[in-house]
Amino acid sequence: MDRPVYIAFEGAEGCGKSTQARRLAADLDAIHTRETGGTAIGERLRAILHDTSVTDLDDHAEALIIAADRAQHLAEVVRPALAAGRNVVSDRSVYSTLAYQGYGRGLPLDDLRRINGWAIGDTWPDLVVLLRVPEHVTRDRMSRRELDRFERAGDEFHRRVDDGFVEMADADPEHWVVVDASGPIDTVTATIRSIVRERLGL
Ligand code: TMP
Repeated sequence: MDRPVYIAFEGAEGCGKSTQARRLAADLDAIHTRETGGTAIGERLRAILHDTSVTDLDDHAEALIIAADRAQHLAEVVRPALAAGRNVVSDRSVYSTLAYQGYGRGLPLDDLRRINGWAIGDTWPDLVVLLRVPEHVTRDRMSRRELDRFERAGDEFHRRVDDGFVEMADADPEHWVVVDASGPIDTVTATIRSIVRERLGL
């Protein structure tokens, strides 16, 4: 590509996407960032979202807090970086909302697309890398730490989220790539690196 690119990593908790996003960003000398919490304002919003003492957050309110985080993130980090000619690698993106708040919580996808399209000024990722690990791996990794609000949502919820990610990837192969992340970390890194080279010429 002859312009800077915006690459997003997506996947379930414990799939290793944070490590892989960090590695790819370092390799490409790209800006590394994340949703939620990629800005100072976003960190404050993230604290509400993850707080396990918050037990009565309405699903719509949750989606809007996340959209607010995203609007700030795009305005403060992603768009300025792209405008300055830098590639961006983000740990999660607008597609997490479609998966978690849409497929997971059951909010209408069209509404979420419209609200979030507005929040991001229609700056959608150029490439989405979806990392997948078997369900038992996710469960095993989650069993070893204290769970946040999302991680406590239960197996059924996480199954719907995972199905949502796969459905979106299947429907849009031009923008999505699915990577089996169950192998050794270095192998997954190398696979992602070669896909990015092939797809984006980076
Ligand atoms: P993280 O552990 O990858 O930072 O993700 C934190 C949690 O936030 C994860 O359980 C998914 C959730 N989340 C959403 O529900 N919707 C979103 O749009 C984003 C970005 C995250």
